[in-house]
Amino acid sequence: MYSSKVSNNKNQCSNGVKNIIMIISFILIIYLMCFNFSIPNTKSLHTSVTLQNDSSSSSLSLSSDTNLEHIVFGIASNENAWSARKELVKMWWKPGRNMRGCVFLEKMPPNYTNNANDSSLPPICISGDTSRFKYTFRGGTPSAIRVARVVTETVALNHSNVRWYVFGDDDTVFFTENLLKTLSKYDHGLWYYIGSNSEHFLMNKAFSYEMAFGGAGIAISSPLAKVLGTVFDACIERYPHLFGSDARIYSCLAELGVGLTHEPGFHQLDVRGNMFGVLAAHTLRPLVSLHHLEMNDPIFPNMTKMKSLEHLYDAAKYDPHRILQQTVCYDRWFTWTVSVSWGYAVQVFSYNIFLPDALRIQESYFPWQTSDLARHYDFDTRPYEPDPCKRQLVYFLHNVSTGIKGQIKTIYRKKTPENCTITMVSPRRLEEIRVVSQKLEIDRKRLLSPRRQCCDVLSSTSRNVMDVAIRECKEDELIFIHP
Ligand SMILES: *[C@@H]1O[C@H](CO)[C@@H](O)[C@H](O)[C@H]1NC(C)=O
Ligand SMILES: *[C@@H]1O[C@H](CO)[C@@H](O)[C@H](O)[C@H]1NC(C)=O
Ligand SMILES: *[C@@H]1O[C@H](CO)[C@@H](O)[C@H](O)[C@H]1NC(C)=O
Ligand SMILES: *[C@@H]1O[C@H](CO)[C@@H](O)[C@H](O)[C@H]1NC(C)=O
Ligand SMILES: *[C@@H]1O[C@H](CO)[C@@H](O)[C@H](O)[C@H]1NC(C)=O
Ligand SMILES: *[C@@H]1O[C@H](CO)[C@@H](O)[C@H](O)[C@H]1NC(C)=O
Ligand SMILES: *[C@@H]1O[C@H](CO)[C@@H](O)[C@H](O)[C@H]1NC(C)=O
Repeated sequence: MYSSKVSNNKNQCSNGVKNIIMIISFILIIYLMCFNFSIPNTKSLHTSVTLQNDSSSSSLSLSSDTNLEHIVFGIASNENAWSARKELVKMWWKPGRNMRGCVFLEKMPPNYTNNANDSSLPPICISGDTSRFKYTFRGGTPSAIRVARVVTETVALNHSNVRWYVFGDDDTVFFTENLLKTLSKYDHGLWYYIGSNSEHFLMNKAFSYEMAFGGAGIAISSPLAKVLGTVFDACIERYPHLFGSDARIYSCLAELGVGLTHEPGFHQLDVRGNMFGVLAAHTLRPLVSLHHLEMNDPIFPNMTKMKSLEHLYDAAKYDPHRILQQTVCYDRWFTWTVSVSWGYAVQVFSYNIFLPDALRIQESYFPWQTSDLARHYDFDTRPYEPDPCKRQLVYFLHNVSTGIKGQIKTIYRKKTPENCTITMVSPRRLEEIRVVSQKLEIDRKRLLSPRRQCCDVLSSTSRNVMDVAIRECKEDELIFIHP
């Protein structure tokens, strides 16, 4: 019995080898055919070249030269909100960079001149009339149709040389360098619908895990947006019962057979109150967008919402790709855990916590809704310690500067005074954390396969100061609690 089984296996083996050889030759033939026939077509040529030389060190990329001039933005706002919300748009709309696109309002605000010469803001476009479309969602706002049609109307601006259309709300702020980096992963000549869903379990359940939530921003490649533009009005007739604009865009793209490409750097931020936990445990992908900043606490304590957002952008100016990127190291001497969320905050735990736990999102916020289920988020969490004397210490960004040899130096300071006893081994005596790092360059390899960096707690220059250096990890380096 046993031996017959073995010989059987042998037979299968040699059959398997034959099959594999046949498959390989088949692939080779197809490949040669494609390569020969695709030369006149420049688009396929690009693809073939990448296939032909797909060495990982190759810097070949399809759209690495994508820049702001290739993007057209469609921002949805309204007459009443615009005068306040334009301050948020000013945070990321870059004057003098030939940025293209419009902010769409239902009508011009009174006493407002559409200053076409003001390059610090996008021009105002007046949305087309949508009264012919039915809207039947109870308690919803029919303006969802106007906002959804921002897609059509942005494409209809007829800009040339467009690679991506990017849509957002007036309270979406983008980190444009990271938006470009993220989009450059994809071939803009193909159909892409890129974004992310909500952090909130109920929101995703109610809408869809496959829907790009509008507040987080939605990127649609040019050829797809053009097709979507031509079918959109006919399509949304079928969805009067939906609540929002993003659900309409999602539905019409689904009808075109296109699914969502998830990019976790886009943030809908459906959390309320203190967003600290979410910001301090950012994904390894670059930060593309933030949302709902106006309805939540300022992201830095002791600062206004606007000022604190400016503060974050200050750091991002020095090192856009590193902003919020989290690095963890362990202090051997005192057994502390140090977690740097670059450009934002440093957390110091007076004990060692395992790396996977340090990477979880602390529940610093409160839920968007009050039901029991509303406390469920679609990410990993770690509880918020109510006792401030047991909670980890948090140091917030104080300032950024360029140091020696192009190093970037960020200083973090404690913002919230508390009355806790200070022991010899407590990090509580630390008043300031200084972090040095090199500007983070993301090449194609890093973009496609990101890896967390490492850090070291340096021997300190003062009792009240901790010095930390961020660097690339060694090939086989592990980030762990040293015994
Ligand atoms: C493939 O890439 C390698 C390394 O970048 C380069 O040396 C080689 O010339 C390339 N081959 C072709 C056919 O482009
Ligand atoms: C427009 O501006 C004028 C002069 O500044 C002012 O008298 C008027 O009330 C303003 N109208 C509105 C609607 O704000
Ligand atoms: C914009 O600039 C042009 C040329 O410099 C000028 O003629 C025009 O009056 C300006 N428009 C506004 C609204 O300032
Ligand atoms: C854009 O081009 C289309 C077709 O060429 C034309 O019908 C439309 O009026 C143009 N829109 C604008 C704003 O120029
Ligand atoms: C940053 O803050 C430190 C401490 O307050 C100060 O000494 C330094 O001059 C500041 N640097 C910049 C560039 O503001
Ligand atoms: C808060 O800000 C005020 C004014 O800038 C400053 O005087 C105060 O020291 C700050 N408080 C803390 C705890 O940083
Ligand atoms: C700390 O304790 C002192 C004295 O008991 C008190 O006056 C002060 O308000 C306390 N500060 C905080 C932040 O609890």
